[in-house]
Amino acid sequence: MVRGEALKPRAGVLAIDPYVPGRSKLAGAGPVIKLSSNETPLGPSPHAIEAFREAAYRLDRYPDGAYTLLREALGAAHGLNPAQIVCGNGSDELFHLLAQAYLGPGDEAIYTEHGFLVYRIAILGAGAEPVIAPERNLTADVDAILECVSPRTRAVFIANPNNPTGTYLRNQEVRRLRGALPENVLLILDGAYAEYVGNSDYEAGIELAAATPNTIMTRTFSKIFGLAAARVGWAYAPAPIADAVNRIRSPFNLAQPSVEAAVAALEDRQHIERAKAHNELWRERVTRELRDIGYDVRDSAANFVLIPFGTEPGRTAQDADAHLNAKRIILRQVAAYKLPHALRMTIGLEHENRAVLDALREFARS
Ligand SMILES: Cc1ncc(COP(=O)(O)O)c(C=O)c1O
Repeated sequence: MVRGEALKPRAGVLAIDPYVPGRSKLAGAGPVIKLSSNETPLGPSPHAIEAFREAAYRLDRYPDGAYTLLREALGAAHGLNPAQIVCGNGSDELFHLLAQAYLGPGDEAIYTEHGFLVYRIAILGAGAEPVIAPERNLTADVDAILECVSPRTRAVFIANPNNPTGTYLRNQEVRRLRGALPENVLLILDGAYAEYVGNSDYEAGIELAAATPNTIMTRTFSKIFGLAAARVGWAYAPAPIADAVNRIRSPFNLAQPSVEAAVAALEDRQHIERAKAHNELWRERVTRELRDIGYDVRDSAANFVLIPFGTEPGRTAQDADAHLNAKRIILRQVAAYKLPHALRMTIGLEHENRAVLDALREFARS
């Protein structure tokens, strides 16, 4: 290297806007109501906490880098071949690994207008070019995605349901997309919120990942299972894709206590059913009450709702956020998702939901 020449990262890296997580703190003392990261208000299964604690006595040992226990438990729970399951340090890691394995300079990868932002980071990080497909009614639009396909396209990332909009693509539409995409284009279906979806025309991606050579489904233990801090995600992929990802992932990419917590969480069906029922009840109530106040809230298939605000001074999402913060409530600002006039609210416990509704009722009348 020539003296004085600055050391530079690979092309694309500095084009990444660092991911800004949902805030968890406010200035001043006292507890906060944090509904900014789509975490479950019911916490993890007590069995998962116990498994994590018990694994702490074996911290001197490396994990089983094949994560056999977890892959077999997932295979049994979903009727999948464990050999086609790959575990990640959260599903975020899997997006990066897939991008690293299949994308490079000169390639393009598509995500949608209000799609989850980690896809963009993974695409740029691999040196490829992100292409943003417009959405229709805050929902991924299959025809618009297909119009973005070029001979350089190598992957399409879709969160289904999507964060932060809460909208989803029906199984029929996902199948239409897969059918129309070229065979050499990967379709990555991110089912982070799949467990919350109650709609009968929804399918998380298992069918396509099993039946096609180029579709991958990703899932996470961070949402309904309440293990966001443990960082456990997984993908179901055709065998050659699982093999490629396994070659580049670090040999011990998950912590053993996290893996054991995930297995215990998966087995506690009652806890999951409780979390799903709580979410359905409060998602419906929160949506209805927000509409009664006057907010044009769309149906959400996930564990959060998107609340649109006005543009006139005093009525904006920033004004609403300041009003909520003054009451020690944190929702998620979503300007980075091209939604500067909205806030995203995770469904919380009853008293948390009521506090947000009361505060927004007051804000709307002020
Ligand atoms: C759509 C979507 N996919 C993936 C993730 C990341 O999940 P993980 O914690 O498994 O990395 C999130 C988390 O916010 C998400 O909203």
